[in-house]
Parts: sequence; structure tokens; C-alpha cells
Amino acid sequence: MPELNWIGKNAVVNHHREVPYRLVHCDSELSAGDADSGNLLVQGDNLEALKALLPYYAGKVKCIYIDPPYNTGNENWVYNDNVNSARIKQWLGKIVGAQADDLSRHDKWLCMMYPRLRLLREFLREDGVIFISIDDNELHHLILLMNEIFGPTAYVSSIAWQKVFGRNNTAKFISDTHEHIVCFARNIKALELNLLERGEGEDSRYKNPDSDPRGPWTSSDLSARNPYSLGVYPLRTPSGREIEGPPAGRYWTVSKENFEKLDADNRIWWGTKGNNFPRLKRFLSEVAQGVIPNSLWMHSEVGHNQEAKQEVGSIFHEANRETLFSTPKPKRLIRRILQIATNPGDIVMDSFAGSGTTGHAVLDMNKQDGGNRQFILVEMDEKIAPDTTGERLRRVINGYHKGGDVSKPVEGLGGGFRYCRLGTPLFDEFGDIDGAVSFSDLAAHVFFSETGAPIPQRVDGSTPLVGQHGEQIVYLLYSEPEQGFAREEAGNVLTPDMLASLPDTPEGFEGERVVYAEGCTVSADRLKTEGIVFKQIPYSIQGA
Ligand SMILES: C[S@@+](CC[C@H](N)C(=O)[O-])C[C@H]1O[C@@H](n2cnc3c(N)ncnc32)[C@H](O)[C@@H]1O
Repeated sequence: MPELNWIGKNAVVNHHREVPYRLVHCDSELSAGDADSGNLLVQGDNLEALKALLPYYAGKVKCIYIDPPYNTGNENWVYNDNVNSARIKQWLGKIVGAQADDLSRHDKWLCMMYPRLRLLREFLREDGVIFISIDDNELHHLILLMNEIFGPTAYVSSIAWQKVFGRNNTAKFISDTHEHIVCFARNIKALELNLLERGEGEDSRYKNPDSDPRGPWTSSDLSARNPYSLGVYPLRTPSGREIEGPPAGRYWTVSKENFEKLDADNRIWWGTKGNNFPRLKRFLSEVAQGVIPNSLWMHSEVGHNQEAKQEVGSIFHEANRETLFSTPKPKRLIRRILQIATNPGDIVMDSFAGSGTTGHAVLDMNKQDGGNRQFILVEMDEKIAPDTTGERLRRVINGYHKGGDVSKPVEGLGGGFRYCRLGTPLFDEFGDIDGAVSFSDLAAHVFFSETGAPIPQRVDGSTPLVGQHGEQIVYLLYSEPEQGFAREEAGNVLTPDMLASLPDTPEGFEGERVVYAEGCTVSADRLKTEGIVFKQIPYSIQGA
């Protein structure tokens, strides 16, 4: 497979592993509505935020949509990942987009995207799918990058979205009216996308000129170019005309035997006088309940850039032009993605959240079909996250006045979200657990690092049982105040008594029991006979 190389690649291919696991703290003042709805908005760099969320959501997300910086040369995006490479250190903190003449601009963009895409893939369910908005600046690089990370067989489509309705007559060569939405599956064999609702236009093609009791129908050609060994035979029309065979260079698409069955069932249309070449009748009542999405999304169906700005403007009526979010996507565009890629109950992720269109579209869709999709949004900017992303969500949840006009109330969509920030890393530079880490935080982390699966449910330490994944059960003996000290009285040591008191395993369980604790006084022989693996905190915890 052809591979893309760029400056800094070696330094970032494993960078996602080095990123520390951080704590996530919720801020109830900036949250809104039902905080338990499962929706999250995390303020922070998505590299760190994704790593922090992985123990809770790995393999659980059905649909990811991202709209990263396009690297146009006009945006102020910053590449400041803490990568251990002299060259990258030189780049750190530099404004990248504004330096359009910086030859390493594309290298930096690729360095920024690579570890994020690696982490995003970890979140997807087996039948999950990712959609990425991009324009011509990085499209070609992105597809190669995705081929490398997701695999070339995971490619689904590059959708062309008509982003503007006009033509720019001052364009140098060709007026740019569309951008791309690149789509890859986690596992193409497991992916299923929903059909789109049939539009009125589609149904109007169906008529019933022969008053068929099965209702309106349309007809399709019964011949095709594909060679078909049973597809060459003569026919006689009902009017008695002899037809020697299919048109030159073509084949009937059904065998003679099947043709006769279809004709007997009045599924062949010979024209009103019974004298035409035969066509196959296709009944509206028998076609699928929807249409397959195509790769060309027109603004009349899914909105355009101007519509997106108006949407944001009508919610933030008090803002002036300069402070309004300048690059939102239309809600209809994200709804189209949700329509084909999600079902009620699915988790949707957007780690470049901007004005929060994805969250808005999720709430909107839930309101419409009674679903309970959840969103996880990440936005890095310290002002945008609370004042734009969070505030938009708050307003659409609670209701607002369109354009600030009291005579135009917009009913709230309901739902809610938690606003979170990233805290300290779980482990310090010596690998010791940070003092702020609770039992619940550490339990999620050890479960994920042990099993590779997200914790089945949050635990508070009232029992040492963290959870089961397949043939593994994980326990944690950890006392927050005694962190770093093995003390039997604190309950953080695996003693014979503690071992005997561990919660029972489910009937028939014959797998491994892994106990994380500060110390162990049980003999190696007894551990072996009991099927227990002891792992010492913090040294045996991955990521420490
Ligand atoms: C093009 S905008 C997304 C717009 C969004 N789709 C909407 O409809 O409003 C990209 C957003 O990603 C944010 N961003 C850029 N780099 C980020 C990072 N490393 N982590 C999290 N957010 C980031 C920017 O602050 C910006 O708000």
C-alpha cells in the first residue's frame, strides 16, 4: 500500500500512547438541563481529552463527525502537542495556519491529526463510522492518513457537499463550491447505514397506467451490457410482433424461464398497445422504505455555509458579526450524517466541536424521533467552549427567542449536558498516583488498561469489584488517603482474609481474577490455586 511520509511522522506514530491519562472534572454551573442525559462537553485539547475519555467510551461510539482545521493558511490553529522530538519542539506553540508560506505547514497538520485519528478509531464500535469534513488543502493527505490508520478497505466514500449556492466569478480558475466529507468504517464488514427517507419527487415517478391492483409502478430496462449466458433468446410481444433477441451488444437480465414467470404475473410491461420492447414493472409498494444515500449532497437538501451562520446568528442574536462563530456547519448537514449513521440510543462524538452543531443536531433528532442518542463534544478554546459551544447547547435545550425577537419563541429541545474540564494526569512523572485521583477514577483506568474495554459501570469503592470482561474479573484495593502506603487496616493489601472476602464470582466462571492492590501477603501457591493474578499499584498499571 502506498504510504505517506512527512517530517515528524516518526515522532508521532506512537505519540497517542505517551499522552497522559488525565482526570475529568465536571462544572455544574456551566452544565445545563438533565445532567444525567449522558451528554458531555469537554473543554480541552482533544488529544488529552480523548485519552481521558477512552477508559469510559472505548469501542462504544457509533458515529464520529469531525470538522478539524482545514489548514487553509487563514485559520489560527496552533500545533503545540508535547511531542518528544527536537524538530517538533521547535514548532511548538507556533501559529500554523497564518504562516501560509511555511513549507512545513502540511507536516504540522499531519503531525497534529495522526495521533488524534489513532485515538478516535479506538472509540468506534465494530459497526461504527467516522465522517471528516475537509477541503482541497488536505483532502489528498487525509485519505492517505486514513488508509494507514483505518486500513484502505475501511474506506466508504468521499461525499461532495455543496457548501455555497453561488459562483465566485473572481476565482482564479474554478469557483470552489463544494468540500468533502470523507467517510471510513471501523470494520467495513460490520457497517450498516440507514436509508434516507424517500422524497415526494421519487414517488411521483410511479404511475398505474394498467390499473394494476398492486398499485403504482415504474419500469426498468430488461436488458444490460453485462454478458449473461442465459440472456439471449427471442420473444413475441402480446401484439404478435417477433423480437429476435435483446438489443445489439446487450443481454436480457433474466433467463427465459424467469421471464415467463414474470410475464405470467403481469410484471412485464409491453407498452399500452402491447407492441414495445419488454420492461420490468417495479411497484412502489415493493421498493425499500427509503433510498440509498448518494455521494453528492446538495445545499437544497442539507444546507450551506450561509445557512449555518444564520442558524448560529439567530441563537446568538446579541453577538456582533466579529464575535460570532465564523465557521459553523449547517445543522441539516449533521442531521443527514446522523440519519444515515445512527439509531436511537447511539453515542455520537465530535472532538472539534466549534459552535456545537453536532450536539444541537443530536438533541434535535432525539426530539423528533424520541431517541436517546448521546453526544460527546470536545472543544479546546477556553472562550469558545463555555461561551459558544456550551451556550448554544444551553439555549437550544432550554428554549430561546429567534434573533432575540420576543414574538418568535423557539421551544427548548430538552435533554441536557455536563460541562467538563481536564484535570491533572493520573500519574506523576515518577509513575505515582496523583493525590486527586479517586477510587472511581483509578478503577476506570485499571479496568481499561487490563481488559482494553471501558468500565461497564462507574464504581465508588463500596466494593473492591470493578467489573468483568469476558474471562477476566478485575478488583481494586485502593484507599485514597493511604495512597502509596500498603496498610492492611486501610484495606489496600491483598491478605488471605481479604482474598476470602472478595465478592463471589458468577456461577461457572473459570477465568482469571486480577487484583490490583498496594501490597500482597498471600503466598504465590495460594494465588495460583485460587486463579488470582496480583498486580501492584502503581507499578503494574499501564500508563503509570
Ligand atoms: C472548524 S471548527 C468546527 C466547527 C463545527 N463543526 C461547527 O459546526 O461549529 C474547528 C473547531 O475545532 C477547535 N479545535 C482546534 N484544534 C483543537 C484541538 N486540538 N482540540 C479540540 N478542539 C480543537 C477549534 O477551536 C474550532 O472551534
